[in-house]
Parts: sequence; structure tokens; C-alpha cells
Amino acid sequence: MTTLLNDPVTRSRAYFDGAWRDTPRTFTVTHPGNGEPIGAVADCTPDDARRAIDAAERALREWRRVNPYKRGLILRRWYNLMLEHKEPLARLMTLEMGKPITETRGEVHYAGSFVEWCAEEAGRIAGERVSLRFEHKRGLTTQEPVGIVYAVTPWNFPAGMITRKAAPALAAGCVMILKPAELSPMTALYLAELWLEAGGPANTLQVLPTNDAAALTRPMMDDDRVRKLTFTGSTEVGRLLYEQAARGIKRVSLELGGHAPFLVFEDADLERAAREVVASKFRNAGQTCVCTNRVYVQRAVAGAFTELLTQQAAALTLGDPLLDSTQVGPVVEQAGLDKIRAQVQDALNRGATATTGGQDAGGLYFQPTVLTNVHPDSVILREETFGPVAPVVIFDTEEEGLRLANDSEYGLAAYAYTRDLGRAFRVAEALEYGIVGINDGVPSAAAPHIPFGGMKNSGVGREGGHWGLDEYLETKFISLGLG
Ligand code: SIN
Repeated sequence: MTTLLNDPVTRSRAYFDGAWRDTPRTFTVTHPGNGEPIGAVADCTPDDARRAIDAAERALREWRRVNPYKRGLILRRWYNLMLEHKEPLARLMTLEMGKPITETRGEVHYAGSFVEWCAEEAGRIAGERVSLRFEHKRGLTTQEPVGIVYAVTPWNFPAGMITRKAAPALAAGCVMILKPAELSPMTALYLAELWLEAGGPANTLQVLPTNDAAALTRPMMDDDRVRKLTFTGSTEVGRLLYEQAARGIKRVSLELGGHAPFLVFEDADLERAAREVVASKFRNAGQTCVCTNRVYVQRAVAGAFTELLTQQAAALTLGDPLLDSTQVGPVVEQAGLDKIRAQVQDALNRGATATTGGQDAGGLYFQPTVLTNVHPDSVILREETFGPVAPVVIFDTEEEGLRLANDSEYGLAAYAYTRDLGRAFRVAEALEYGIVGINDGVPSAAAPHIPFGGMKNSGVGREGGHWGLDEYLETKFISLGLG
């Protein structure tokens, strides 16, 4: 019998305090596709965290002084290595968290694009001349690294959510201690290995997997030498971390939950709109923060649009994520599946109809699902689903559509389809979201240089582009008296 246990792509040891380390305890990582274990990973403790902070302090002293062009060259080599290792990296991500292999191959490029962009940008980090009101003074600003960064990353983009943080941090001259998601720690270890191979100095990027995130995080939050927290994950955990970081007045970047509305207006190209809802809703089995969570369609086209959406969702191939033919894989864990099931059941109990799907399909698989006649009180219209389910709701006027779309505690991403240019601008301006896709269901695709982040309970700060780099830089003002 073939087994996935210890597939050659897997990784097991933590990297901190200058070495790859085994720990007394380990935890098991399993493949969501079939529930088989793929290996055991080091389970780091608060003592390991304190050692990592000491090591990071030493590394920061040197790294912040390295010429930014040289930092950029190391990042460039990291990028090249990631692409050379594309296939094993993609396989590892699929094994760890079940994203279809065609998508994880794309994720290697996506993750690499942040590294490539920051490699080029490192040498452009600069200050400004500031005019002063006194003849005998000159003013200037410099940009300096924030310092030691503690990063906590999610499983849904095991590589992309790491490089979106690590690349700007390292380009800016910061050093990073990373706690990867318990469900996908091996990809993080693989990336750290490539960073060292690229010439990244010891302890500039340390990776401490753990099964007890709260315990490992405490020393990071209590230590004043850790100057920044960057987190991608749920709003609930983000709120706790924000409170803890506040005690040490740490800089924070939080990329939290979303509940994206997708508005389809009566003047839209319905065929394309349906295709984009499918792209936005079903990629990664619906497990991204920017996935469409609610579809609002204008009454005059509701029947035709729902039919197109249903046909396209029903045609998706659900199956083994290691196969090239698979379009929708399993969800990552049982708790995720239970939540999806409960939301669908709640909607059905309130009178909704599943025009396709509506049930789990064995193991951690859930059928791609479209729901119509969804009652406004349904849980799925308020809480993040993180699953392959598209609830469709009818609206009458633009005003009503916008009101429904904005009626959420979240403000990460929103989408609208229309051919009317005036409406496109009105809607884009009225949507209370950090990212708006007009006739575009995947605005963040292949775009390392755009600002990614949310309003309201979706977070603080932006990742990507110069906005993302600024999050790792302090601005210093220097006033020079000429004497
Ligand atoms: C996320 O789920 O936060 C990332 C989605 C993306 O970068 O497109």
C-alpha cells in the first residue's frame, strides 16, 4: 500500500537560534484529502520562543546594517529558488491543506511575486529632504527597520501569506520569527530552508511550529524587543492579539475575516459574472478571506443568472487535490466541514433551496453548492463560511443592493458586475470594503504591488506594494543645525 507518511517533500524540524532543531514533543500533520498522516513536526515551547528572540536580537544588529541592495539580491535568489522548487512546494502545500495542485502551483508564483517585488524595491527604500523655516537648519527623513517582527500565518495560503509578510520585512531590514499554522507548518520550514540556501543570514527568518499557539505567543507579546506583530487569521484571534500587542505599544498589521458580497446588476454580462462568481467563490474550496460569501442579484436577471451559476458550479470537478483534473478539493479539517454543514442546514431550514449540491460528499469533501431563496436571517449571510457554498439573494434597486452589501461587520473585499460606467464608480465608492472588484472576481491575482487589507472588523494595515513595505519601516526625522 502506498502511504503519504514522510513523503520526501515533508519537513519536520524547527529552525531557531541558528540551527535546525528537533524538540522533545512533536505533532502530526495530516492530508485532508484522505486523513492520512504525512509526518510529525517539532512542537516548540515558550522557552524556544525566548531563545528565538535572543537570536533575533543578535541577527537584527547585523541585518539592519546590510546594504539594502544586497538584501535585495538575497531576496532575488530566494525568489529564484522558490521557482526552482515549484513542484515539491506545490505538492507539499496540497498534502498539508488539500488545495488542488493546479492552485498550489499558482500559489508558488503568487508567493514568489512578493519576494520578487520586494527584491527590486529594497534598494529604493529612501528618505526625503524636508524644507525648514530656518536658514541655519536642514531637515531630512530616513526610513529604518521596525525591528524584530513576530508573524502568525494561516493555513489557507501556506506560502503566500508568509512571503507577503516576510519579503517586505526582510527587505526593510527587519528580522522575523514566524509561527506558521498548525495545519501547514512544513511549507514554512521549506521556505526557511530556501531562504538560508539563498544566503539569508542565520536567525533572520526563524520558524517555530507549535501545537500551542497561545503559549508560544505569550513571550513574544511580553517582550519589548519584539516591535511588531503581523497576523492573518480570524477576527476573534486578531482581537485578542491586538489587545496583547497594545500593552507593549507594538506596531500591528491584522488581516482578518471577510464576508464578501458580490452584486450582479441587471446590465451585467451574466455569463462572465457567473464565471467570476465561480472563480471567486470556489477557489481553494471557498477557503480564502476574500472569497465571495453572499451573491446579490437584481430581480430582472435573477432567474437567468442563477441558472448559469448553477450550471457552472455543478460542472466543477470535486476530488483528489493531487490530481490535475480536480477543481475543488476537500476542506481543511472537520471543524470547517461541520461549520459549512451547519450553515447550509440553517439556510435550508429557513426555506432555501439547493439548486446544486447541498451535502457533504464523504471525508472532508463538500459538494459545490448554490442556494436560492435564502432567508435574510440565515447565518450564512452573516458569518464567514470558508466553504464551497454560494447563497443567492435577490434585490430590486441599486440603493437596496448597496445597503445589503454593506450590512456586515466585515470590510475586506466586495465585487460588483455592471456595464454601466456611472454605476461602476458609484458602487465602487459606496462599498465599505478595502478591496473592490468591478467586473473582476479575483482582484488580488498575481498582484504583489496592490494594497491588500480590510476596513471595519477585517483588520488594520495593508499588505503588498509600498503600503506593505511601509508597515515594516519607521520614519525618523533628522534636523541638522549648520552652526
Ligand atoms: C486571503 O485569504 O487572505 C488571501 C487571498 C488572496 O491573497 O487572494
